Amino acid sequence: MLPRSNLAILTGLLVTLATSVLAIPDYTGLPPGPYCANRYTAGRCCQGRQDECSAPILSTLCYCDDFCMRHREEDCCPDFWYHCKGIRPNVTVPDISEHRRCFFQGRYFDHGQTLKVNCNSCKCSSLGPRAEVLCEENRCLVEPKLNEEINMQRDILGWNAGNHSEFWGRTLDEGVQLRLGTINPSQSVYRMNPVRRIYDPEALPRDFDARTRWPREISGIQDQGWCGASWAISTTNVASDRFAIMSKGMESIDLSAQHLLSCNNRGQQGCRGGYLDRAWMFLRRFGLVDEQCYPWTGRNDVCRLRKRGTLRDAGCRSPPNSMRKELYKVGPAYRLGNETDIMQEILTSGPVQATMRVYQDFFVYKSGIYKHSRTAELYQSGYHSVRIIGWGEERSYRGAPIKYWLVANSWGYQWGEDGFFRILRGSNECEIESFVLGVWAKTDTEGQS
Ligand SMILES: *[C@@H]1O[C@H](CO)[C@@H](O)[C@H](O)[C@H]1NC(C)=O
Ligand SMILES: *[C@@H]1O[C@H](CO)[C@@H](O)[C@H](O)[C@H]1NC(C)=O
Repeated sequence: MLPRSNLAILTGLLVTLATSVLAIPDYTGLPPGPYCANRYTAGRCCQGRQDECSAPILSTLCYCDDFCMRHREEDCCPDFWYHCKGIRPNVTVPDISEHRRCFFQGRYFDHGQTLKVNCNSCKCSSLGPRAEVLCEENRCLVEPKLNEEINMQRDILGWNAGNHSEFWGRTLDEGVQLRLGTINPSQSVYRMNPVRRIYDPEALPRDFDARTRWPREISGIQDQGWCGASWAISTTNVASDRFAIMSKGMESIDLSAQHLLSCNNRGQQGCRGGYLDRAWMFLRRFGLVDEQCYPWTGRNDVCRLRKRGTLRDAGCRSPPNSMRKELYKVGPAYRLGNETDIMQEILTSGPVQATMRVYQDFFVYKSGIYKHSRTAELYQSGYHSVRIIGWGEERSYRGAPIKYWLVANSWGYQWGEDGFFRILRGSNECEIESFVLGVWAKTDTEGQS
């Protein structure tokens, strides 16, 4: 016969085991309820995160809404699963010899079993007598809480966030390393010469879209994949647009970003990023072939072309109506100094290349006129090159119209506004007006007209 005090300890142990099967990290040992059951009808708790969807517990609050389970369910009330979701916890006290299980996000997991929560790997592990799901703590590329915060401030920020499904399950670090890819623009872009243009800023149109002005000449949207090569893609896209525009459609080609990625390897880091001045220098000295001849693989593999030679040496065809023999080369790239200079350049010569600082919230941009949120400044950021193809103004119900740039990104058509985004213009948002470049294409028709 056990003494009374030992019996109490044993009962205590069993209670601990019973509640730890529920694996509620913060509230272990507390009575299982009622919390949500005090406030809501069974199965009819709240959905969004609202303060009233909560119940007092200890000296704080626990939650009875779907949001509590998104992260690591640390905020869910102990009776949330049973009361709100109708999932009955296993109330039988497990045999101590039986291996322990974890109850997590409404499911049971065996000891040692792994699962993924967004970008983090988790494992049902034992902590002394308890079994609990433990997760890595990486910051994810898509954080539901950040999206929710942005969408709550939509009227002030001017844009919406969404869950871009290709980015779900990836870490923020992967996003910054492999979805951007432009190294230190202040060093490389400031080495290039600025140009001064003579024009009347007052005469610039209120809006402009290069696709309307040159309907067949402007490149579409590419997807760089998980390769930090925006340096190569934005360079070839701007150069391709310039070839088509300056040849009046005679040389409407897509230049090969893969050629640049694989062959411009001196001082560049391939899928880990590149310098824009070196990319433009490569186009100027050696030139590129077209996309058909050297298609995009998104891998930093061995260059399969010799640096010098003709299109034929490279095994590429010239365009149908062209006498071109040489690879496609450009003149020296030049820097554009301010908002109206950039506009004038796009209006007369076509899209330009811009480099911007990318904060976390940019990855989840869905629509609207982007400006980065304060919260996003707290986390890792990086530089990314894009192609500005126009601008416009959007009427706002209070105050002056909101001016924006119209920009092509390289994350596929599914992202943003069909692959494009709009970003605040005139205030150097994300430094987008600091590193803007234009270039002249050396077309085959040069000197003929
Ligand atoms: C985001 O999208 C992915 C893939 O479509 C999906 O598995 C995930 O549950 C979504 N996340 C949220 C919070 O909606
Ligand atoms: C940009 O610079 C040009 C001179 O290069 C000047 O005429 C123009 O007003 C400037 N624009 C802005 C927005 O500061």
